[in-house]
Parts: sequence; C-alpha cells; structure tokens
Amino acid sequence: MIKTCEEEAKNKRIVKLINKLYIENDLRDDELLWLIDNIDDESKRYLFALSEDTRRIYYGKSVYLRGLIEFTNYCRRECKYCGINVFNKSVKRYRLSKKEILDTCIKGNELGFKTFVLQGGEDPYFTDKIICDIVTSIKKMIPDCAVTLSVGERSYDSYKTLKIAGVDRFLLRHETANEELYRWLHPYSYLHSRVECLKNLKSLGYQTGAGFMVGLPWYKSEDYVKDLRFLKNLQPEMVGIGPYITHEDTSMKNYKSGDLETTLLMLALIRLLLPKVLLPATTALGSISPDGRRRGIELGANVIMPNLTPVVNRGNYSIYNNKKISGSESAEALQMIKDDINSYGYYCDMGRGDSKMIY
Ligand code: 5AD
Repeated sequence: MIKTCEEEAKNKRIVKLINKLYIENDLRDDELLWLIDNIDDESKRYLFALSEDTRRIYYGKSVYLRGLIEFTNYCRRECKYCGINVFNKSVKRYRLSKKEILDTCIKGNELGFKTFVLQGGEDPYFTDKIICDIVTSIKKMIPDCAVTLSVGERSYDSYKTLKIAGVDRFLLRHETANEELYRWLHPYSYLHSRVECLKNLKSLGYQTGAGFMVGLPWYKSEDYVKDLRFLKNLQPEMVGIGPYITHEDTSMKNYKSGDLETTLLMLALIRLLLPKVLLPATTALGSISPDGRRRGIELGANVIMPNLTPVVNRGNYSIYNNKKISGSESAEALQMIKDDINSYGYYCDMGRGDSKMIY
C-alpha cells in the first residue's frame, strides 16, 4: 500500500518515539499521549518487539510462578467494580483457617512454589496478630519462600508490624490515577489515601506492587498517561495491569469490559517505562481472551500467578464474571501451565523471583 506524505511523517514520528522510549525508558506526557492516540497495528508490533527485548535483557526467557491463595472473600469495602464488595449479598463468603492456609502452602512448596501470594478482601477478622501468626508459621515451615500480601489499605503501623513478621512484598493497585473517577468507583474513599498506603509500603522496604484496570468507564488516553506517569514516579517493583471485567452482581453491571488490545499496549508501555518491573500476565488478561496470557508474555510480562486456593472455595472468589480458573494445586495442572509457557518459547522459574530493582 502506498503511503501519503502525511502518513509517512506520522509513521516516522511513531517510530522515533518508540525508539526514544526504548533507549531512555521515558517520554514526556504529551509524547505518550500522542503515541497512544496514533499507534497503528504495524508500529504496535515494533513496540511489542522492543518491550519483549527489554524484558529479555533483565529476565531472559524466564517467567516467574507465584502461588496465589485467595484466603478470604469477606470485604468491608465498597469498590463498585468488584464482585466481592460489601454490598454483594449473592456471593457465598468464606475464610480459610490457618491450617488450610498452611496446608495449601505445604502442597505448593511440594510442587516447587517459592512465592505465596496471600490475597483477600479487607476482612476485619484478619487482624495484624492473626496475619503475623500465619506468616511466621509459613516462614518457619518454608524458610526460603517469599510471602506476598494483598489485603488492601491498612495503617502505617499495621504495614510495619506485618513487615517485621516477615512479609516480603505487598500488592495494592492504585486502580486509577483519575481522582474523580476513583471517588466514583470508591464512594467512601480517596485516591490520596491509597497513594499514602503505597508510599508507606515503599518506605517500609516492601517490594511493592501498584497498577490499574484498563477500560474503566469514561476512560480517555489522558487517563492512561496519568496512570503510566503515576507508576513511573512511584517506581514500584511490581505492576498489575488487567482489563476491567464486568461483574453482573455489581452496580457497574451495565458498563462494558476493557479490551485486549489496550491492555496489551499498556503492558508494553509500562515494561519500557519501568524496564526491571515484575509484570504479571494477569488472570483478568487470560480471562478476556484465550490467548491473552500468551500475548502478554510475548510482549514482556514475566510473572504468572497460578491459583492454589482450595477448589471448594475457588468459585466464590469471583471478583469479575468468567474468571479463568487455572488451577494448579496438582502436579498435572502445574505441568500443563509449564507446557503452555514452553510452547510460547519461554520457561517457568519457580524460584523466589525477587525484584531486580533493589538487589
Ligand atoms: N475486573 C477486573 N479487575 C478487577 N479487580 C477487582 N474487580 C475487578 C473487575 N471487576 C482487580 C482490582 C483489584 C484486584 C485484586 O482485582 O484491580 O485491585
């Protein structure tokens, strides 16, 4: 196809910006905005090749596996998008006992997992004392493992107590850096409190994860630039980016889900902005498209989080509809995941997989 002069000039500018991003690991906000608005399929392929290359420099072809344990779906929070928010009366609530959590970790350790991600709603039952007891026991049983917590907003003192008990990492997405939309999504809370928590986590020495959902209502390119800039400034060790997926039992049931292409674009951009970041191909990404996980990994994602939650509880941790249930509590299921990753041309690393930003 013959390109007009205008198209050629535009194409040149796209390639120039992608190259600059690859070399400098940053762009100005107006450049990022222009790139998001103008990138076409062909230049996207180029961008994805460079984001994959950036991951390869630091991580080679390895993909870290984390064992995810969804240990409680009780939640006091009002997040409008989330299927386990406090208002949803149709979800069957569950809470794993200390023994169930420890047994899950033991099984995971036997399968070779060296990172356990304990994720839950903001469940007041899990006081600092209870979580510390669980974490201390995990560390006693499996001294060489890393424990990641993802239990929402808590006070500085609480984060400090949990850190001292041995928690290594903490995931707390900022969800959106658009303050007004943040308020709409969380009518009783503020973005600044979330940001404060993230700063506290960083200052306490946690390997910290932030991130956002793609395709939230009214989202514009400017909002993505805000999210990317927020992450670039925060310098988190981990970033979780996935599409927003509608859940029918929430007040947002009539808003449509985020799309694959935009999610992939955001993953590639963040890999280039934060070259060493630990970047999962999220469950949500794998849930909106059968090849979402593969495409995420092929452009620079380097973590996946197989679900170790006991099968009887798994269906109830329903934060969005049609969540991919990729069990790996058995050696067979885990082998299937490894075979999948191998078939994309990568290999699974079951080690702790600490951030390369701090060591
Ligand atoms: N769609 C996609 N992601 C969601 N999360 C919660 N609800 C949804 C949804 N409906 C994400 C949030 C949260 C993480 C644990 O899951 O970003 O931080």
